[in-house]
Amino acid sequence: MDRGAPTLDAVTTFGDLVRWRTSLSGAALAHVRRLAGTWRPLADLSFSDLLLLAPVEGEEGHRFVVLAQVRPTTGQTVYPVDMVGTVVDEVERPMLTRVWRLGEMVETDTQALSAKERVRVQVIPVTYRERLVALVTREYLPNVGRRPGELERTYLDVFQRFARMVAAGTFPFERDEEELETAPRVGDGAIVVDADTRVRFASPNAVSALHRMGIHAYAQGMKLAEIGFDSASVRASLRDGSPSMEDIDRNDVTLMVRAIPLLDGDAVTGGIVLVRDVTDLRRRDRMLMSKDATIREIHHRVKNNLQTIASLLRLQRRRVDNAEARDALAESERRIRSIAIVHETLSRDAGDVVDFTEIVRPLVRVVEESVSSDDLSIHFTVEGDAGELPGEVATPLAVVVNELMQNAVDHAFEGRDTGQVHVRLVREPDQLVIEVRDNGNGLPEHFTLEDATGLGLSIVKALVSGELGGTIEMRATGEGTEVHVRVPVVQPRVDV
Ligand SMILES: Nc1ncnc2c1ncn2[C@@H]1O[C@H](COP(=O)(O)OP(=O)(O)OP(=O)(O)O)[C@@H](O)[C@H]1O
Ligand SMILES: [Mg+2]
Repeated sequence: MDRGAPTLDAVTTFGDLVRWRTSLSGAALAHVRRLAGTWRPLADLSFSDLLLLAPVEGEEGHRFVVLAQVRPTTGQTVYPVDMVGTVVDEVERPMLTRVWRLGEMVETDTQALSAKERVRVQVIPVTYRERLVALVTREYLPNVGRRPGELERTYLDVFQRFARMVAAGTFPFERDEEELETAPRVGDGAIVVDADTRVRFASPNAVSALHRMGIHAYAQGMKLAEIGFDSASVRASLRDGSPSMEDIDRNDVTLMVRAIPLLDGDAVTGGIVLVRDVTDLRRRDRMLMSKDATIREIHHRVKNNLQTIASLLRLQRRRVDNAEARDALAESERRIRSIAIVHETLSRDAGDVVDFTEIVRPLVRVVEESVSSDDLSIHFTVEGDAGELPGEVATPLAVVVNELMQNAVDHAFEGRDTGQVHVRLVREPDQLVIEVRDNGNGLPEHFTLEDATGLGLSIVKALVSGELGGTIEMRATGEGTEVHVRVPVVQPRVDV
């Protein structure tokens, strides 16, 4: 029967357990999975641990395997250890077998599964389309001699209504999504209502949440709409018998509201409305979103301004006769355009890092456009991946790469009609290496980087060794010129 199943302790995920140990499948499996995805309020309402068990395949009614477990956030757990994957037999827990045979709820004292402790256990049959598909056990330490308060009595009563729904096959709901991590819990605030939205009970935390919204009416016995808590989704839930979730804003307070109807057969007999004050959470969401959008907008404007400046320089160049002055203006225009490219990329992505490889390609285009001679054709290739860089590193680096490519175009291929420029990007854990190689004439005699006084290489040196704390090597290879730029980079910080 084991079908080559892995050893038990290796099998702990819901899917694996179901596949290897049980015969659950199809819609019944989906029902059971939905139960384990939405049953947290039941544990809280019953102040108990809940275990979900299904019969071990081939041993129906004799052995059961624990598929899922949930602890109460309102009370003490019986099972601080993980019980998922544990197999229970009929000697240990004869009531499981009984419920599996009779399909009726049973409550009894017994021994805890993991320890010698005595616990009280309620076994609830899980029904799907009139077929018994699994069992839920509610396990708790009995309170001897203490009289439960109103909150406790109300919650336990609501829990028993849910238990009957589980047995009748109406809980979990067909249309319900897995509960979000942020969904309101019973402890956040719970309001128990009748079918006509009349408040039967509001927990102290729920009352506080309503106060923050400006609702001060004594709610008990009144309809939700009468106290000013009018939620269309709560009304729809109670009308249609399906759960809902909604944010309600009032008085600068945002409440997340989850309504779960209580059914008797098909009839809605009431519901529980869980409320959580998410004002701070939502405000933070909004701020994060607008901070991001603002930064992008600023980059967009900076890019536009730089392009305007570049265009002005171009206009000015057309009015100048002196060749040297024209060249100077053309170069300034190109340098400004290379910075604009970085801001354009930053304006597209969220966050303050850019994928530098994406910047290299438009930079190549800027340089390509500057090749004015029809007699020279230069082929550019880009290889490797630079990874992400913070904007303050990407901007100077874009200027550096631009200068190096421009030098190849300007100086390497004199007297030739074709040339190749190759850019290689290597991202290492703590540095980025950029290699710009051409297959041109090589460097002039007696050339040294230290003594180079041209503006281009002066800018490169100032940015790489000055601003970025990196190094540059430049040498003639015999087949052209090769420049290596290394800059230290730390992993970009991810802002939350
Ligand atoms: N890839 C290359 N191939 C051949 N010579 C080069 C190469 N790169 C640089 N050089 C030489 O180094 C010199 C200095 O370059 P630099 O970029 O500093 O100034 P420039 O290009 O002459 O002027 P500018 O960049 O200000 O327009 C160049 O004049 C050229 O002689
Ligand atoms: Mg130059």
